[in-house]
Amino acid sequence: MSPAISERGKAFPPSPIRKLVPYADRARAAGKRVLHLNIGQPDIPTPPAFFDAIRRYEETVLAYGPSTGMKEYVLAVQEYYRQWGLEFEPQEIIPTFGGSEAIIMAMLIVAETGDEIIVPEPFYTNYRCFALMAGVQLVPVPTEVSQCCRLPSYEELRKFVTPRTRAIMINTPNNPTGRVLELDELEAVRRLALEHDLFVLSDEVYREFVFDGKRHRSPADFADLRSRVIMLDSISKVFSSCGARVGCIASKNAEVMNSALRLAQGRLCAPTLEQIAAAAAYRARREYLPPVVEEYRRRRDEVFAGLAEMREVTCPMPSGAFYAMLDLPVDDAEKFIVWMLTSFDVNGETVMLAPGDGFYATPGKGVHEARIAYVLEPPKLRRAMSILRQGLAAYPG
Ligand SMILES: Cc1ncc(COP(=O)(O)O)c(C=O)c1O
Repeated sequence: MSPAISERGKAFPPSPIRKLVPYADRARAAGKRVLHLNIGQPDIPTPPAFFDAIRRYEETVLAYGPSTGMKEYVLAVQEYYRQWGLEFEPQEIIPTFGGSEAIIMAMLIVAETGDEIIVPEPFYTNYRCFALMAGVQLVPVPTEVSQCCRLPSYEELRKFVTPRTRAIMINTPNNPTGRVLELDELEAVRRLALEHDLFVLSDEVYREFVFDGKRHRSPADFADLRSRVIMLDSISKVFSSCGARVGCIASKNAEVMNSALRLAQGRLCAPTLEQIAAAAAYRARREYLPPVVEEYRRRRDEVFAGLAEMREVTCPMPSGAFYAMLDLPVDDAEKFIVWMLTSFDVNGETVMLAPGDGFYATPGKGVHEARIAYVLEPPKLRRAMSILRQGLAAYPG
C-alpha cells in the first residue's frame, strides 16, 4: 500500500508531443530511422556568442543571481524590446525559467482558483498543464484549420466572457498553427480586454519567425493596453537554445511586476550563467537571426511543396513560427502516427508527427489533425514529405 496522490497530480495531461516517443524508440530499436517532425526542437545552431560567453565566465562559484535578474540580461532584453518599439524599464522585465515559467507566473498572478482565461484553440498543448498548476480554467475559442485558424470577431469572442473571465491569452506567431495574427484580430482582442476589463497574456516566443513580408504585431503595441498586457517570452526558439531555460515576463503594470518579483524571490533566481550567455545572444542577434529566419522560410516552402502533392490533406500555408496543423484524411491521426512508426517505412525510414487532439481543450476536436514541426534540413524534409504521402496512400484507416 502507498498513499494516494492528489487529484491534481492525477489530472496532469500527457504531452501529445512526447507521449508516442516509446513507439519511436521501438521503431529505432527495430532498425528504422525516424524523421522527427513531432517536436519543436530546432536543429539550428545556437549563436556561437552564447557559448563564448559561457567559456569566458571566470567566477569560481556558480552563485545565486538576483531575483530581479542578471543586469546584463535584463538590459539586453530592454534594448531588444526597444528595437520592436516597446519601452520597458528594467524593473518591468523579470527573467524566468523559459517562457514556461513566465506563463505559469502570469496565470497565477491574474486569476484566482477557478477563474477563467479565454484562449483560441488549437493552442500550445502545455497551457493545459500550466492551467492545472495554477488552478485556472482555460476557455477555448474554436478556430478552423480550413480558415487558417483566424480569430473570430469581437462579437464572437465576447460570447466566451463570463463573470469569472480574467484574461485572454494569445500566441502569435502560433504554435501549433503557424498563424501570425493580423491587425484586425488584435483589434478584436484589444476591444475585448478594454470592454470586459481583462488582462492580455501575450506569448511571443516565436516573434522573430514571420515570413512573406508580414509583420509581427504585439498587443503591447496598443498604448491603451499598456497596463493589461503581460509579455511572455523566451530565448528557446529565437536563439535555438531550448536547454538554457531562460525567458522573461514583462509588463508595464507595476502590481503585476511586484507580484512577479515576489514569486521570483520565492524560487530564488533564473539560471545565472545562461542569462549571461542569453545577453550575448541578444547582442549578436542582428547577424544571427536573418539567415535563421530565411532557413525556416525555406523549410516551410519545402513542406508545402510536399503537401501540394497530397490533395486530401487540408492545410493553408501559415506565415510564422515553424509549425503547421494538417487536417489528414484518416480515421484517427494518433492511430495513423502509431501505424507509421510500427508498420510503415520507405527504405527503412519513417516519419513522426504530433497528434492534433492534444492541442485542443474541446473533447473530440483535432482527432483528424496532426502538427508538423519543420525543424529538419530541407533534404530531410523532402524525404519526410514523400514518406508521409506514401504512408497516407497505404494506411488502411
Ligand atoms: C507557444 C509556446 N510558448 C511557450 C513555450 C515554452 O518554451 P520555453 O519554456 O522553452 O521557453 C513553447 C515551447 O515550445 C511554445 O511553443
